[in-house]
Amino acid sequence: MSQALQTDDFMAMKGAGYYSKATIGAKHVMDNAAGLILDALERMDPPDNGATFTMTDMGCADGGTSIDMVGRVLKEVRGRCPSRPIQMIYTDLPRNDFSQLFQIVHGLTDIESYFTDIDDLYVYGCATSFHQKMVPPGSLHLGHSATASHYITEVPCSLQNHVHMVGTAGAERDAFEAKGAVDWQNMLLNRTEELAPGGRLALFNFGIDEEGRYLGHTGGVSMFDTFNELWRGMVDDGSITQDEYLATNFPQCYRTVDQFAAPLRDEANPVRQAGLRLEHIETRVVRCPFAEDFERHRDAERFAAEYIPTLRSWSEPVFLAGLSGGRPGSERAAIVNDFYQRYQRRVADAPRGHAMDYVHCYMICEKI
Ligand SMILES: C[S@@+](CC[C@H](N)C(=O)[O-])C[C@H]1O[C@@H](n2cnc3c(N)ncnc32)[C@H](O)[C@@H]1O
Repeated sequence: MSQALQTDDFMAMKGAGYYSKATIGAKHVMDNAAGLILDALERMDPPDNGATFTMTDMGCADGGTSIDMVGRVLKEVRGRCPSRPIQMIYTDLPRNDFSQLFQIVHGLTDIESYFTDIDDLYVYGCATSFHQKMVPPGSLHLGHSATASHYITEVPCSLQNHVHMVGTAGAERDAFEAKGAVDWQNMLLNRTEELAPGGRLALFNFGIDEEGRYLGHTGGVSMFDTFNELWRGMVDDGSITQDEYLATNFPQCYRTVDQFAAPLRDEANPVRQAGLRLEHIETRVVRCPFAEDFERHRDAERFAAEYIPTLRSWSEPVFLAGLSGGRPGSERAAIVNDFYQRYQRRVADAPRGHAMDYVHCYMICEKI
């Protein structure tokens, strides 16, 4: 890469509702884990004291995947604390499609929203990165984030033989893990400052589980290896240049359970010293809904056509950003279309083993 590309400069999920429609698995992740948040609320036992209760959804994309989980949690808050105004703050990066978010929350799409079911509720958007401070100190009661904190502030080095840190070893891997550790500690530190005493964080993060599994790498065909092979193949056939291949790096760090827990377990760590405590940590695998459907319908063309949009909804900006700015936008779009068509063809021709199973580390933290 000729210069370090900041993640905020280009990152956004595919807009206009594409993200929520294609990414039903991310919804399952949150719906299935809503009980962890409701249990945390039970332990928190927020007083019905008339003070504003604030919840965030950090890295919300278009808000469609979290809408049912957020609705369940806010209804529980309303039931427990009838006198408290509720402030719900959705946060993402500035290029996020916030218009789509507000259309979803305000019930202007075919997705059902909780908004009119909860009295005294105030919904806002915030386009400040979660690597910075987002709400005033001591004002946050429930901070939630799903499938977002693997995005690091910038790529620390250009990967020579892969597009993602999970496919690397040695110095490249170390550089991503070091960047991941700094950003994670900083993220937790900012949240700790924002939390009111007794407040909770519910963080459902992409990571590497105890068996070495991670997103799209759960025993079948590895998704990130497939991305890499196909992108590399486009260098080989002259569709993209070697420089463009080298400039294509996911600005992500997949952390292990120990890496997630480290700032909370180490007595000397500033996060722990600032008062954040780990209440709960576990890993879970949530099956790829498209691979599950395929087991029933056995139609490979249909599986490929339904499966590729879920990959595309979050990975496309990374492949677009790798292409030279000297190419017209239409040419970059055509190259990326060609890339996903190759992936689709590959799945349709040999569907066995393809799946984007979700592997998450679920954490609940308390500010003491
Ligand atoms: C894969 S989507 C997850 C969306 C939603 N939370 C879900 O689980 O379906 C990741 C989201 O995190 C956002 N994101 C990445 N880095 C961020 C940052 N530093 N601050 C806020 N949002 C960020 C992306 O823009 C994207 O919308």
